[in-house]
Amino acid sequence: MINLDAMLSDNAKNMKKSAIRELLKLTSRPDIISFAGGLPAPETFPVADLKEAADIVFDKHSAKALQYGTTEGDVDLKAEIIKFEARQGVTLKDENLLIVSGSQQALDMVPKLFINPGEYVIAGRPSYLGALNAIQAYQGKVLGIPFTPEMDGFDMDVLARSYSRLVQGGGKAKYIYVIPDFQNPAGLCWSLEKRKALLKFAYDHDLFILEDSPYREIRFLGEHVSSIYQLDQHGENRGIVINLKTFSKILAPGTRTGWIMASEAIINKLVVAKQAMDLCSGVFTQKWLAEYMKSGKIYEQIKQTCENYRVKRNFMVEMLEKHMPKRYDVKWTKPEGGLFLWISLPKYISTDELLLKAIEQEKVAFVAGSGFYFDEPEHNAMRINFSYSSTELIEDGVKRLARIITKEIETYEAGHRAKTLPEGM
Ligand SMILES: Cc1ncc(COP(=O)(O)O)c(C=O)c1O
Repeated sequence: MINLDAMLSDNAKNMKKSAIRELLKLTSRPDIISFAGGLPAPETFPVADLKEAADIVFDKHSAKALQYGTTEGDVDLKAEIIKFEARQGVTLKDENLLIVSGSQQALDMVPKLFINPGEYVIAGRPSYLGALNAIQAYQGKVLGIPFTPEMDGFDMDVLARSYSRLVQGGGKAKYIYVIPDFQNPAGLCWSLEKRKALLKFAYDHDLFILEDSPYREIRFLGEHVSSIYQLDQHGENRGIVINLKTFSKILAPGTRTGWIMASEAIINKLVVAKQAMDLCSGVFTQKWLAEYMKSGKIYEQIKQTCENYRVKRNFMVEMLEKHMPKRYDVKWTKPEGGLFLWISLPKYISTDELLLKAIEQEKVAFVAGSGFYFDEPEHNAMRINFSYSSTELIEDGVKRLARIITKEIETYEAGHRAKTLPEGM
């Protein structure tokens, strides 16, 4: 019998199962209220409009839609994306654009292109674990920079010091990975000032920036801030920013379609990387999305989705305020967009352990914060999603969550008191 483990490549040995994908399986259990996945609200999917667009493809473009397409992506869809981005102030040419099968594919392509074993990516602590797992799969390493709820971007002094230590120790970094708009997991946003400072840092040290923006359009409060891609474009235009976008959160993740914006030279390299992966993204889907976008309905769709999430986010915050223990060390973020908020708990609580109790005792699920660290994880936080559940389930789920957290704190503190009280008391 062949020993599978012994046969695996070094890259395969480095592949990690995504804790979130595993947890998503729980959402199908009807007795569990899951705040774990990053699922958009199904009631926002514009089914009738999408059906209409699919009918047009079958009626008018079936020969092309059912055929292989170019790796770069469907010209009609690219033309629509160029118009879409122009409305947000981004100037794009066809050669700056590559259609991918979801931005997750791009998160795998970029380290594939840049990272040799042992080389570094600079990323926030915490960061999106799908990006971290992809880096690890190419035997890359991550230089983690703290990015906590009270921050509006990296502390640039800390970044400079960590980077200089890395370089002095012989380490080589290739790019900085950031999610400046409503980051996954904590929903945090970078200020304009910090975006500019990061771009300058990248210029000064010859680093690329991988700007992952799946939630950029899902802003339901506050003011729009320029993307780092835009800042480069409207400034020195050095073409060092690779910006990822996706239809997953603005339309439907089942489309499995996203796009990469970058300099022509980088796009050409990424095209070669993609050729070996899937030849091209699904052509029917691209034509279908192009037809849908031609209708112009995407803008109203995004507006309605933002409104839906604004209501749910406000409701979840209200429920947390009402039901969670009122203590300085139990707090949560109040994001202005995106799909998630991040709850920090007292240092002595491990949400990895709490998760098992929450599922068993209260039938409520979240993602333990430790999954969002490449190494040396913090254990006392959790990510919860507000977009997927109805307000009824949000209320019930937050009550369950509050009960299990309260119980955990009380149990710890009773044990701690018993230990510190003098004997006989
Ligand atoms: C920060 C971030 N990047 C990328 C992705 C993957 O998105 P897609 O569905 O386009 O593959 C996600 C999904 O949740 C995400 O949160």
